[in-house]
Amino acid sequence: MRISVIGCGYVGLVTGACLAAAGHEVVCTDKDTVKIGQLNAGQIPIYELHLDQLVTRNCLEKRLRFTTNAGEAVRAGDIVFICVGTPPLENGDADLSAIDSVARLIATEVRTPKLVVEKSTVPVQTGLQLRQALAVYGRKSGLAFHVASNPEFLREGTGVEDFLHPDRIVIGVDDESAEKSLREVYQPILQRQFDCPVHPSVCPPQRQTECMVTSINSAELIKHASNSFLALKISYANAVSDLCELLGGNVEEVTRAMGLDPRIGPHFLRAGLGFGGFCLPKDVQAFIRLAERVGMDFALLREVEGINKQRIQRFVEKIRRALWVIKGKNIGVLGLAFKPFTDDIRFSPPIDLVRQLLAEGAHVTAYDRAAMERTRTVLPEIGYGKDPYEAAANADALVIATEWPEFSVLDWERIHGSMARPLVLDGRNLLNPAFMAQMGFEYHSFGRAQ
Ligand code: UDX
Repeated sequence: MRISVIGCGYVGLVTGACLAAAGHEVVCTDKDTVKIGQLNAGQIPIYELHLDQLVTRNCLEKRLRFTTNAGEAVRAGDIVFICVGTPPLENGDADLSAIDSVARLIATEVRTPKLVVEKSTVPVQTGLQLRQALAVYGRKSGLAFHVASNPEFLREGTGVEDFLHPDRIVIGVDDESAEKSLREVYQPILQRQFDCPVHPSVCPPQRQTECMVTSINSAELIKHASNSFLALKISYANAVSDLCELLGGNVEEVTRAMGLDPRIGPHFLRAGLGFGGFCLPKDVQAFIRLAERVGMDFALLREVEGINKQRIQRFVEKIRRALWVIKGKNIGVLGLAFKPFTDDIRFSPPIDLVRQLLAEGAHVTAYDRAAMERTRTVLPEIGYGKDPYEAAANADALVIATEWPEFSVLDWERIHGSMARPLVLDGRNLLNPAFMAQMGFEYHSFGRAQ
């Protein structure tokens, strides 16, 4: 099929590259001309596992191309996927102005009828608004537009795997032809009729994909309800962790046993610095606002947000208790990205933590394998180590802020020898407390016995 993708951020790039890998002819566009220039020069502007291979290969095989000419891009496809950003406004609502601009672009530039698919995360009833906007902006052409919602469930870092081997594909439609077209788009993925373009580890043959057809409103709700539920699980684990600290108990033992119940499941119960990134925090906020606008107080989610916001403060308290005075101390910080395997620092708890430490007068030296370049632009005043060891050298305390697996297998003897004081504060419960004690460290984490 011929597909246009508008927006080349995390979602748009992964969507475009994966749909091309599935055999479709894809053209992607973005209003950021620098980004399109980079992509055309073979550079991938984001850090996403396997994406570079996928883009290079599909561009070479002429199934994927990038253009700054948005009009040409939307005319090229029979289906247009909208993958633009919907960042939070001051009041927590999702900013839908980019979707509105894209509706105008499509309605005024196309010459034939199109199926317009929302992939961006949007509040329920956006599909209805989009359809109306397309009709208003395109009233002179008299073209009929079909609208569908097809939410993404891509985790940053494993977006390619999630797209090609999804647990579910949600197709929100209100007419048969839109359903038929989207089923055709996803047919190769549902039937696994494509050469796995990347490492075999991302092509687990056993994973079953469920394709669910719903109304447009339900599809939009599914996305917000899913992400808010994930956030709820994390905040719940964090609240249990705080109780473990107060009453004596080990949050890892508690959540591991909880997760063995299939009704609960083992995922998203890791206690620590809390959730960040460009999806969970904004989606929870937008869902709360959405409920508010129709007269419902989603107090449960307000609490989820509140618990998450307190995580940094609780951690700083731990650091203060251990160091007594933070001002003037050298603190090494391992991890800046909001989670491992990404360079994304948007709404990243480690960045908030560093800001807080700086505000209290600490000297910070940080290390992150992927996110230092981005962090330099927002935190030019801190030091950056060339590796974790440089961040730890001469530090009065070493903080683990992102759960990069490499931090669990460091040469701790070397670190012990190089620190001013062998004190480690683990904001992600990555290390084993008994091991750290055995190595001679004073070690603090969340919800586990000291
Ligand atoms: C999320 C959803 O998972 C994905 O389905 C959706 O489409 C986009 O939003 P992502 O933003 O990539 O994906 O992040 P995710 O993997 O969900 O992690 C979010 C945050 O929660 C990270 O900061 C992570 O460190 C934190 N987290 C995760 C915990 O604190 N504890 C956990 O147990 C799991």
